Amino acid sequence: MDDAAIRAAEDRTLLATYAKFPVSLATGRGAWVTDTAGKRYLDLYGGHAVALTGHCHPRMVAAIREQAERLLFYSNAVYLDVRARAAEALARFLPEGMRAFLVNSGTEANEAALKTARMVTGRPGVVAMEGSFHGRTLGALSATGLPPYREKAGPLVPGTVFVPFGDERALAGAVGEDTAAVILEPIQSMAGVREAPPDYYRAAREICTRAGALLILDEVQTAPARTGARFYGEHPGVLPDLVTTAKGIASGVPCGLLLAAAPVAERVREGDHGCTFGGGPLASAALAATLEVIEEEELTENAARMGELLAGGLRAVPGVTEVRGRGLLLGAVLDRKAKPVRQALLERRILVSTTPGDDRVLRLLPPLVLGPDEVDVFLDALRAVLEEEPPDAG
Ligand SMILES: Cc1ncc(COP(=O)(O)O)c(C=O)c1O
Repeated sequence: MDDAAIRAAEDRTLLATYAKFPVSLATGRGAWVTDTAGKRYLDLYGGHAVALTGHCHPRMVAAIREQAERLLFYSNAVYLDVRARAAEALARFLPEGMRAFLVNSGTEANEAALKTARMVTGRPGVVAMEGSFHGRTLGALSATGLPPYREKAGPLVPGTVFVPFGDERALAGAVGEDTAAVILEPIQSMAGVREAPPDYYRAAREICTRAGALLILDEVQTAPARTGARFYGEHPGVLPDLVTTAKGIASGVPCGLLLAAAPVAERVREGDHGCTFGGGPLASAALAATLEVIEEEELTENAARMGELLAGGLRAVPGVTEVRGRGLLLGAVLDRKAKPVRQALLERRILVSTTPGDDRVLRLLPPLVLGPDEVDVFLDALRAVLEEEPPDAG
């Protein structure tokens, strides 16, 4: 199919929910993707932070192909050798004593976290942050603090109160004896890549412990490895009660995780939750291979190194007024609107993202295999684009 036929086929039959890049992709390798006409693009968007180990990492392709030939699916009604392999890889990767529940997406992981918090504490309340994004199903949406996502979907699940992100006093005031959980997206990606100071996360931990509420970190974008630590909580030295992750955890095969610290895990009983596809053979093979590749290729360390290189380079580009985020989850604040810059970069065959919460932020979520030459390609292109057009007046 040519490009026009591809677009027509999608647009004719699929719901018009997505604003798309005007690109039809066919293949990918590492940090690069190729369209149906054979044009290559440097991918600093990573299919929305999913291409963690790069596109079509040979280890991933082999693991998925091999598993597809052995057993495509079986549910959690049985043990599976491949699920055991994923569990062993997780045991090496997770903080001591943490246990996992496998789902298919970020929103499902957050649903499972909120439900588990209510079941374990016997309390109804959730404290969430203004500016947060936790997913599009009704429970996760109820804790999402970006109004445009919630507006048309009400009434939402009751029991959630919102406080400003980064405000320790507001958080302390909102958490009480009815609070089951505080849910925090440690770097608010959709809001414009916003991070709080380390003390804030430590205070959140203390506030929850004092009140007997659970601390949930939504690490759907930040883990594994993206911020230069296995989990974001390692930066401020915070061990949450529940962690959620998804995106690149299986390098593109749908997979999400709810992770529970030992005291919570011990209280989860048979029948408390379930998920038909969660932990299926294909996802398990991809999860195990992803964690193995992260460890063997030291992608956590590479994310930290490339993140510093990229952030340092960005700070030196005229037109970039601030750089937010950590590792390879970065937001470059521009002296102008970001969408036209994203379009100009696309014309130079570079894919980047913007954010719904801050229209001056260019968001970068590249594969963790990114190298220094690719950082240079991007910085040169951005410099040229920002030089070509003058900044906006306001
Ligand atoms: C922080 C965060 N939480 C949850 C989600 C929802 O994940 P999914 O789209 O896999 O349901 C996202 C998706 O962008 C996210 O960024």
